[in-house]
Amino acid sequence: MTKDFGDRGRDGSESASFGFRRVAEEAKQGLVNQVFANVASRYDLMNDLMSGGLHRLWKDELIGWLAPPKGATPYRHLDVAGGTGDIAFRVLAQAGTGAKAVICDISAEMMEAGRTRPRGSDARLRFVQGNGEALPFADRSFDAYTVAFGMRNFTHLEAGIAEAFRVLRPGGRFLCLEFSAVEVPILDRLYDAYSFNAIPALGEIVAGDGGSYQYLVESIRRFPDQQSFARLIEAVGFERVSYRNLTGGIAAIHSAWRL
Ligand SMILES: C[S@@+](CC[C@H](N)C(=O)[O-])C[C@H]1O[C@@H](n2cnc3c(N)ncnc32)[C@H](O)[C@@H]1O
Repeated sequence: MTKDFGDRGRDGSESASFGFRRVAEEAKQGLVNQVFANVASRYDLMNDLMSGGLHRLWKDELIGWLAPPKGATPYRHLDVAGGTGDIAFRVLAQAGTGAKAVICDISAEMMEAGRTRPRGSDARLRFVQGNGEALPFADRSFDAYTVAFGMRNFTHLEAGIAEAFRVLRPGGRFLCLEFSAVEVPILDRLYDAYSFNAIPALGEIVAGDGGSYQYLVESIRRFPDQQSFARLIEAVGFERVSYRNLTGGIAAIHSAWRL
């Protein structure tokens, strides 16, 4: 699979992939931000429509694997690229009174959509605007780090994973839910046909923006497959790296520990 970062253009300048397009490295994040500013108000509805509700089961699976502590045990959770709050809300619903969660996202529009949801006013929750590649948090300040459908938007994937490692305390847990490589024959072709045809069309009808959904579909194909991603996680120092496929590999959850 093509690497998503650090490629050099013909003129020697660094370039990055924005979906299937090559763009100047410094331009990518602005384009990504435009996508999420455009779709923020329809983001949750589109997730349900595009996935037929499957994304909820995948997110529940991530929380099940995380198993946040119950009771009054202090627990500091960071959800990067947390957007409208699906992961952080679930963490706080499962964890006990000692839990605190931070949603850190680069998009003010996505977090605003999250704040206005019923669980967005939980006193244990904080929203912090920031870039997953340069997190505005101290070293070793969290017990767990999650990121769902966020890392494929990063310009420098390794930098994002290294930041996860930096902000976790030793013994801290990393979990990433992301679209991945379909490992079931026939399902891969059906999935391709569905995603390249239906999703941009649905995005146009529901969110008035087929182009943003075209990017989302293309960015999935540019992301490293399960094993390549596991190697990147190991390369920054994480241990006990493993992954679980969801729905034949349409998505996967990678788990790792900072020991
Ligand atoms: C597909 S949404 C996922 C939202 C949420 N995690 C979920 O699963 O529903 C991707 C999110 O990544 C955020 N994002 C993109 N680039 C980012 C970056 N460099 N740092 C932090 N967040 C970023 C976007 O603003 C957006 O909210």
